[in-house]
Amino acid sequence: GAASKGDYRHFMQKEIFEQPSVIAAALEGRLGDKSVLVESFGPGAEALFARVRQIHIVACGTSYHAGMVARYWLERYAGIPAQVEGASEYRYRTVVVPEGTLFVTLSQSGETADTLAALRFAREQGYLGSLAICNVPGSSLVRESDLTLMTQAGPEIGVASTKAFTTQLTGLMLLTLALGRIKGLSSDLQAELVAGLRGLPRLVSQVLKLDGEIETLSMAFAEKNHALFLGRGVHFPIALEGALKLKEISYIHAEAYPAGELKHGPLALVDSEMPVISVAPNDELLDKLKSNLQEVRARGGELFVFADEAVGLEEEEGMRVLRLPHVHDALAPILYTIPLQLLSYHVAVLKGTDVDQPRNLAKSVTVE
Ligand code: G6P
Repeated sequence: GAASKGDYRHFMQKEIFEQPSVIAAALEGRLGDKSVLVESFGPGAEALFARVRQIHIVACGTSYHAGMVARYWLERYAGIPAQVEGASEYRYRTVVVPEGTLFVTLSQSGETADTLAALRFAREQGYLGSLAICNVPGSSLVRESDLTLMTQAGPEIGVASTKAFTTQLTGLMLLTLALGRIKGLSSDLQAELVAGLRGLPRLVSQVLKLDGEIETLSMAFAEKNHALFLGRGVHFPIALEGALKLKEISYIHAEAYPAGELKHGPLALVDSEMPVISVAPNDELLDKLKSNLQEVRARGGELFVFADEAVGLEEEEGMRVLRLPHVHDALAPILYTIPLQLLSYHVAVLKGTDVDQPRNLAKSVTVE
């Protein structure tokens, strides 16, 4: 039957709240006791993965941001050099493909024109093979790729992608662990990350309980014209995704910056009219991030920080701190996406925009 919103006001809201169950679905049958089941990527995956020496990832929009996160994961945990590019750029340049390169596409719909064209172009470039991580079974991308991993998020109706993104990230962590297993990632770390993945749906449920607090916080944005999102390392793409969500549905101009680049330009924009949102998990870059936040505070910027409950950041005048449960560093990007989705959702509702069908945008861009 036709998709229904159930008790939710918008599809986007429903899809945000479905994330604990769809992340569990994305993991279903794919985890062994202490490692990832490589056959989840289809027959022949094991043999193909053993030959992978680097990876090229191509996608559009939100899916592109998932690819950016994966680059950090693949290099850190599987030791595999990875590149990420937007499909509309990739397909129109000369691409040098080193021997042993796997071509990976990410797409919710599997029908995005540029991503599909990039796959068709890549087939002529001497890649080892192609893998599609996709949400729509039987889509063009799935039919035309050598290997596939379905994200199992179920139909996504809201134009602003939410559950498709977090299930893509889940799939990309599975890919990282599948490759890591072949490339010598320690079995302790594999077991730790597999356990972390198993605990993720519960943590996401906990973060969703921040909904009320985030709704209150969203009032600080309704009258603003600009917002700046900061993240470092693997959280820079999460900042990009937070800014994209806010732009797409609330029409507030939002930019994301790696926090360390702040002083090379955007700091000039910071004043009391510019809310600054930062994700501050308890990772190795935290001290660096804290000093970036001080740079913002010193200019009168209003800060909103999403931080690990163990992080010693005190709320003060001009700085709101929202606590998230502790999560394994590697999985933090998935968890920290949730409050940013809720924030943009509530800002859009306050502004009265068409949340599920924002102006000028399409769910699936099948024409060029
Ligand atoms: C459109 C949608 C975005 C999506 C992008 C890529 O721009 O509005 O939400 O991220 O296409 O779509 P795909 O289906 O390939 O992930």
